[in-house]
Amino acid sequence: MEHKFLYSVRMRATVGDRHVSGAERIVSREKVEMTVDELVDRAIRKGCTRDQVVVNVEPLGATPIRRLTALDVITLTVPDIHVARSAASRVLQLAGVSAQAVEAAITYISNGAALSGGNMRGAMIMDAKSGERLEQDRERGIRATRFDWSDDVIDSISCRLAALGLTHFRTSEALALATKAAHAPGMVAELCWSDDPDYTAGYTASLRTGYVRFPFLKQAGDAKGGRAFFVNGHLLDMDMLLGYLQQEAVLITNIGECRAAVDPEVYFSRRKFTAVVSNYVK
Ligand code: COA
Ligand code: AMP
Repeated sequence: MEHKFLYSVRMRATVGDRHVSGAERIVSREKVEMTVDELVDRAIRKGCTRDQVVVNVEPLGATPIRRLTALDVITLTVPDIHVARSAASRVLQLAGVSAQAVEAAITYISNGAALSGGNMRGAMIMDAKSGERLEQDRERGIRATRFDWSDDVIDSISCRLAALGLTHFRTSEALALATKAAHAPGMVAELCWSDDPDYTAGYTASLRTGYVRFPFLKQAGDAKGGRAFFVNGHLLDMDMLLGYLQQEAVLITNIGECRAAVDPEVYFSRRKFTAVVSNYVK
């Protein structure tokens, strides 16, 4: 796709004051109308009326577009949320986040990370070592936007994920968001679970570990959720980080590996083995 003809199409929908649905695409001119209809239908299926849906269509014009390969995907099968959170913490530590910072993030997300005690409208930015929160607005946080799968790979990623039983649209959308975020300047890793009470899955993501999914990072019925972007606080250029996450357009043009679910102990022992072999090879 020639990028000067690409458009960012972003939908958000509310019931009363509550944000209930949001999604976005990057599409060519001829797909804009169809995409707007699809996104509006999606909000209506979530119980919104047409006047509760806002769609922004923005030509990307000459702004640079980044093309990325998706993070590799793996699921760690842990049915218990406490064991799953502790496995998520171990994965984040492999990515370079301190145990203290992970613990702080889990506590914030499970209690409601917004100043008011509810869910934030975006992600926390946390120092990966100290766990200090660095985002200016603790109600809003930071939202990653302007990303999508390219037309060339959308079907293949959907098929690969479906072959692993991952058919929910949230998985491919979260993987796209996590791929964009993992490439941000100063980014170390991400932790997320949804605020949707019916959606218990969550993930950690980083360039080092890929996208590691957990079927249960919270109890069913729990409406608390959120995201933490862990960053290298010492070297951080906040303007560059925010500019990239919020403004730079990203298309995912290649898919990564999508592996079958494994038990966490198998996952961690494989990584230890890989570390030993690569030290030996050095
Ligand atoms: N949660 C709560 N409120 C949201 C929201 C979200 N995710 N996104 C937008 N809003 C509300 C806020 O009130 C926001 O005002 P604020 O900036 O003061 O917080 C207002 O809508 C306007 O938001 P804006 O950023 O201008 O909307 P947009 O049209 O540019 O983009 C989205 C809206 C939802 C497409 C975008 O924010 C987003 O989240 N994109 C990623 C979607 C996705 O694929 N997520 C993966 C899910 S697994
Ligand atoms: P969701 O997976 O959409 O349920 O979002 C989970 C949490 O991530 C929300 O409660 C917000 O705190 C945060 N969030 C929502 N949208 C974004 C976004 N675009 N970028 C970063 N964080 C987000």
